[in-house]
Amino acid sequence: MATRSHMLLALSLFVTHVSNQSGASRWEERNPGVWTTEFGRHDTPTLTEASGSTPLKGQIEKLPRAELPFKINEVKLTKTRDYCVVSVPLKPGEKIFGLGMQMSGINRRGGVYHLQVDHFAEGHDRLHAPTPMYISSLGYAVFLNTSRPINFYVGVGNRRTDPKIPAFKDRNTDRNWDAQPDSGQVEASVQAPGLEITILAGPTAMQALQRYNLFCGGGAMPPLWAVGFWHRTPSLATSSQVSQEVDEFAKRGFPLDVIGLEPGWQSRSYPGSMEWSPERFPNPKQFVSSMAEKGIHVNLWENPYVAPGSSLFKKLESRFGSHTVWLGAVPDVFDDKASKSIRDFHTDKHLNIGVSGYKIDEVDGFDFWLWPDHATFPSGLDGLQMRQIYGVLWQKLIDNMYRQKGQRTFGLVRGSNGAASRLPFAIYSDTYDHHQYITALINSSLAGVTWCAEIRSADSNEEWVRRMQSACLSPIAQLNAWDSGKKPWSYPAVSEEIREAMLLRESLVPYLYTAFAQYRLSGIPPVRPMCLIDGGVESDQYMLGDNLLFAPMFVGAKTRTVRLPAGKWYDYSSGKFAGSSQTITIAPSLSEIPLYVRGGAAIPTIPGALRADSIKPCLLRCYGEGPYVAPIYEDDGISFGFEQGHYFLGTARINKGKITTKLEDGLRPNVMTKFEYVVIAP
Ligand code: GAL
Repeated sequence: MATRSHMLLALSLFVTHVSNQSGASRWEERNPGVWTTEFGRHDTPTLTEASGSTPLKGQIEKLPRAELPFKINEVKLTKTRDYCVVSVPLKPGEKIFGLGMQMSGINRRGGVYHLQVDHFAEGHDRLHAPTPMYISSLGYAVFLNTSRPINFYVGVGNRRTDPKIPAFKDRNTDRNWDAQPDSGQVEASVQAPGLEITILAGPTAMQALQRYNLFCGGGAMPPLWAVGFWHRTPSLATSSQVSQEVDEFAKRGFPLDVIGLEPGWQSRSYPGSMEWSPERFPNPKQFVSSMAEKGIHVNLWENPYVAPGSSLFKKLESRFGSHTVWLGAVPDVFDDKASKSIRDFHTDKHLNIGVSGYKIDEVDGFDFWLWPDHATFPSGLDGLQMRQIYGVLWQKLIDNMYRQKGQRTFGLVRGSNGAASRLPFAIYSDTYDHHQYITALINSSLAGVTWCAEIRSADSNEEWVRRMQSACLSPIAQLNAWDSGKKPWSYPAVSEEIREAMLLRESLVPYLYTAFAQYRLSGIPPVRPMCLIDGGVESDQYMLGDNLLFAPMFVGAKTRTVRLPAGKWYDYSSGKFAGSSQTITIAPSLSEIPLYVRGGAAIPTIPGALRADSIKPCLLRCYGEGPYVAPIYEDDGISFGFEQGHYFLGTARINKGKITTKLEDGLRPNVMTKFEYVVIAP
């Protein structure tokens, strides 16, 4: 039976004709509030094709209907000899967020961006994830669905013929002369025969982002274990050294869920064999199962460049690009047969003995590092296009491999792009600036990807603590000691502060798992930038899930200001009232983490957990005045059953001492977890 919303949808799907210099363009509302047009003939693959994503239409329908703040035919599509050009109007005061996982700044208005995949470095604008999508503070988003590099001129570049061109000023005499007069539009250009453009409505900026993520298949849903703590051992560690290190975590009472092996697990690397080293890992099967017995999941570092001596090399039957990387052959992962050979090889050598996922390194890097623009691949892609999507294609390949086994994975990757929201990977970098890491956390959400603000080493006890606190309050919490050899307790004077931060992280797994489920089901990312929730304010604080607000401390700073949005806010640890709709100045000691809770919220936690899948009663930490409400999500934690609706999404409510749960979505009518609660008050 057609529901009212289906009928409304049928009525509202429409096609708008827009004229432009190249003739009429059809804007089609293929999904509610999502308008797409083809301008010329776009080349293949688009970003959505590369990532294999299809819109979660049913979830998009749950967002409120919305209009754009401009008429769609105000979007101008033009063609020059070489470029497809898109111009979208900007209003005075409108802010623009996104345009890739930028590592500095938040509002992109007034900037020029050349979006290409590369290892981030100060002074150039190439990015680990150059998602060609932006979100407007006025509540809409624009996505250019192409795997070609794109230039964005955000409010800069005045057209001579613009009727609204700003008045001339004389620099000799006018102190208000402007070096960069606002152009009142975003202009984007791509060197391609055509382009697919998608505009997504809000009504709010956050809902525009949600619509984008749902359009790209919904946010990635990690297995439960991936929400715990990750530790990567030194490059050349042997299986017995890794086992000892894992045991040390348990002995010292530090949580651990994932152990990451770095290049030395392979018989050779750079280029890699992707085969176990007989010296360092003589019995991989036994090693991986001994880890599983301890509840530890094994993640393998790889870069995709195949050493000629590897048995994978032969299996790929020359399905390689024309150029090498470190003399390793570059598999053409846009080719189905090559992808299948890689999947079969990895399934046999790793997945079937219990490996839980991968860290895909070195899929960023510009032409001096990877391969030149003119490189060729058997599938027909050129080097330029392949570089833009190589990381995305690898993520899809690995995701498909685990899907075939019915098992969820989560991994790390250093290069990604648009339409990758649904792929179960977090991005990382070799840069190591704490401020940039926090900016990347915020901007990753604005680019539809996930960032891992990992910790590696520190120059002081203070830095070690502050960075660990940030790492533990990011979507994936990881100590990457591939080079430093550090362990959480490596700075003895602050070992307790570190343990506290890690225990806090592990205790928050039920809360964070729910935040990931919200990412998957409603497109709202686990890290929520303040610019999308607090009146467009750019800030280095962020919301983690619905009810936690984190304000990171940086080394050397004794105080900082925290802007508390509307509502009442309480200190997470003490329950002390912190303020309401105001900016406060705090001076937290090293052991104090500036983490705040919305009044009336209950935070689901497993206190003292050392593993993410600890089965203990879930303690709801309640703040302020009741009744208290906690969002709750549950599924089996490992399979894809949730994609068929086998989950519970709803709330736990505590009113006058009684806990009740209410299902809002999903086929699991009841929660399996036992709940207890405590009101946190000073
Ligand atoms: C780097 C990577 C590091 C580590 C290292 C191992 O490229 O960013 O995290 O994995 O390789 O050689």
